[in-house]
Amino acid sequence: MPKPLILSVVGARPNFMKVAPLHRVFATPEMLALVEHRIVHTGQHYDAAMSDAFFHDLEMPEPAYFLGIGSGSHAEQTARVMMEFEKVCLESKPALVLVVGDVNSTIAATLTATKLGIPVAHVEAGLRSGDRTMPEELNRIATDALSDYAFVTEQSGMDNLLRENFRKERLFLVGNTMIDSLHFALPKARQASILNELGVASKEYALVTLHRPSNVDDVAQLRALITMLFEATSECAVVFPVHPRTRKNLERFGLLNLIESSPRFVLTEPQGYVNFLALMMNARFVMTDSGGVQEETTALGVPCLTLRTTTERPATCEYGTNILVPPTQENIQTALQNALKGVFRTDGVPASVPPLWDGKAAERIATIILRECLSH
Ligand code: UD1
Ligand code: UDP
Repeated sequence: MPKPLILSVVGARPNFMKVAPLHRVFATPEMLALVEHRIVHTGQHYDAAMSDAFFHDLEMPEPAYFLGIGSGSHAEQTARVMMEFEKVCLESKPALVLVVGDVNSTIAATLTATKLGIPVAHVEAGLRSGDRTMPEELNRIATDALSDYAFVTEQSGMDNLLRENFRKERLFLVGNTMIDSLHFALPKARQASILNELGVASKEYALVTLHRPSNVDDVAQLRALITMLFEATSECAVVFPVHPRTRKNLERFGLLNLIESSPRFVLTEPQGYVNFLALMMNARFVMTDSGGVQEETTALGVPCLTLRTTTERPATCEYGTNILVPPTQENIQTALQNALKGVFRTDGVPASVPPLWDGKAAERIATIILRECLSH
């Protein structure tokens, strides 16, 4: 009898951190005897700094399949993944497809597999921002509606899926594979020399990432954000590894000059995972609109200002170091002044790490998959 095949689908930057620990668990001799695990890379992200760098830092093998999808409108990108992934499914006949997160590759692979009658397990299921203007929220809702199994990172995800009538016996609170990757890479991050390379000192800079369309696609919003960050450089250095979507818009809107006019505004290419972890660990605080960065800063105990009106990861605010800052000028200026003074949580409760974010989520998922998902 051939071993059952599991295909894990990755496409965009945050997917790699979520799948790498699963691949490591499935590569152990005990697991190899029972299942075969292959990685499918859709190619949604393709620049070396948005893709290859993570395979290297997370010690992942080359993907078994590369679909070469690239950029495009939502419909184009989703449709191209579906067309190419369908061929992979028909040829390889997986027993289970694993999808992670909330990007276009996630929903595209889910739709393709479920229509072929292949069971799908969603890792990081159940998160909801409640904001349907976010493309990711639509991807999350649709992916969970179709998935057969849900692996959930935090209690809010369980509550959301139970409310949406997800089958209780196929719903598992397992923790966070992104935090597994963080534990894996921390020793390397402690050795990284990126702070020296960028000329910044530990706890003397703010680290910034921005890539949500609501923050970076609108000229007035992006100009306002960059202007505030520029003003903050009079108080502390700002390190800004720029996502390609944001880079394009900074160029298009003529905002690069403003950044370059402050020597303490350090603009860089997207960083590899190990370097980025080193930058997070040593930051005075982080400002971001990323999903994953909210979780990693909570795991590291580093203060995080999230420049959004909602979060699908409320555990990071409830337990951790995350503060939601709806991104208006007044809100950001107040939050920045507090952050520069070292004022963060106002409820007096010490920050902690959410339950099960202990570096062992992938092991739990693999055990459940063997027990529950391959026997039907
Ligand atoms: C995507 C995800 C988002 C996730 C983010 C992680 C969707 C709908 N969005 O957003 O949820 O938070 O990835 O980073 O799936 N580009 C390059 N090189 C690359 C990749 C992209 O230059 O390697 C540029 C292209 O101009 C492209 C643009 O970035 O059009 C946006 O890329 P896309 O994958 O469509 O969305 P992201 O903004 O990256
Ligand atoms: N990240 C990275 N280099 C960077 C910016 C982010 O390695 O320059 C990592 C970050 O540590 C996290 C993931 O990328 O693991 C988050 O991806 P992103 O913010 O692009 O997507 P989101 O989580 O918002 O979907």
